[in-house]
Amino acid sequence: MDKIRNPFSPGAGSPPPELAGREGVLEQARVLLGRVKAGRPEKSMLLTGLRGVGKTVLLNEIERMAQAAGYRSLLIEAHDGKSLAVLLAPPLRRLLFELDRMAGAGDKARRGIAVLKSFVSAIKVRVGEFDIGIDIEPETGAADSGDLELDLPSLFVAVAEAAKERGVAVAILIDEIQYFNAGELSALVMAMHKMQQRQLPLVLVGAGLPILPALVGESKSYAERLFSFPDIGPLPTAAAIQALRDPVREAGETIDDEALEEIARLTHGYPYFLQEWGYQAWNHADASPISLAVVQASSAIVSERLDSNFFRVRFDRLTPREQRFLRAMAELEPGRHRTGDIAARLAVKIQSMGPVRASLIKKGMIYSPSHGDMAFTVPLFDEFMRRAIPHFEA
Ligand SMILES: Nc1ncnc2c1ncn2[C@@H]1O[C@H](COP(=O)(O)OP(=O)(O)O)[C@@H](O)[C@H]1O
Ligand SMILES: [Mg+2]
Repeated sequence: MDKIRNPFSPGAGSPPPELAGREGVLEQARVLLGRVKAGRPEKSMLLTGLRGVGKTVLLNEIERMAQAAGYRSLLIEAHDGKSLAVLLAPPLRRLLFELDRMAGAGDKARRGIAVLKSFVSAIKVRVGEFDIGIDIEPETGAADSGDLELDLPSLFVAVAEAAKERGVAVAILIDEIQYFNAGELSALVMAMHKMQQRQLPLVLVGAGLPILPALVGESKSYAERLFSFPDIGPLPTAAAIQALRDPVREAGETIDDEALEEIARLTHGYPYFLQEWGYQAWNHADASPISLAVVQASSAIVSERLDSNFFRVRFDRLTPREQRFLRAMAELEPGRHRTGDIAARLAVKIQSMGPVRASLIKKGMIYSPSHGDMAFTVPLFDEFMRRAIPHFEA
């Protein structure tokens, strides 16, 4: 069928034609935004789940909702090797200037800029050309201890007070939040603790792999009290079918029930896979309805595309040792694994696996869903590993 009219959108962060099965979490976000704006306490949100389940798409949708509700927002994406302070400083600067330009009495926005200035100087962040500009002296003694767990809360307070003075609320959205180190995560938690204590209109919505296992002590118990952790998983069958059928219908075409059920079965309801299947099946079909036979005939190309676009790119970035570690994991039952079981498969001592495990976590290939457990971050990666390395020997 006409490729130009193909409604499906496989790709990281690509908005799907139909955001199926996420009513619950969007409703939760709506309530959160409404309550924080009204000065009522509510838990911030951290959307957690594997790659390709639709976290980024949800985060973008929640940012749109926030803006529609009158929030000023900023969205950052963490990645390996950039600090939280470096990522946050430029958009906070923009936000504070925006608040400063808004009509209204008071000098809290100017104070916010002064605090940001001292924050930036204290942690000596190299933000490239970053220069706060304008003629404001840094505020000595505010957010400039050099300890992020103290300074970030002070900075958030200054920003949120400036917003409050202008009668607006602030939404900070952070994607790939798991890339921050334990100190940065803990600083974010402490900053949100301050927001709640002072009932300030600033909300944090994050997305990524589970971060709770990375937190310890006080910041962990605060995190459990200050955040909810909606689990973003595969779509239930009915929603998976809706994600395919509605866009086809909307485009004026049809798809058979058996075809829908087969795609739902093959994809296990994972959103990224649904988009790829929908996309290829549409292109493969000569005319409506898209049939089971078309789905079966698209199978080879879909596997190839998923391997090359979703799995292989990650696999190729790994060292042979890392690949062997993952291949050993793929020998085990699907799910989470004790490090000891993986070591046993590799016939090595558990202590010797520390470095390879750490680098796989850093590369975002595996994560720790709970203490001492390891799991793949990419759905169905175990099946891919068995395709990529058919014969495994310890
Ligand atoms: N609820 C949904 N229904 C259908 N497709 C979705 C849904 N959420 C996400 N997708 C699709 O899944 C793919 C991955 O989404 P993305 O937000 O990048 O996932 P993540 O950030 O979790 O890795 C995109 O192609 C997107 O269009
Ligand atoms: Mg994402």
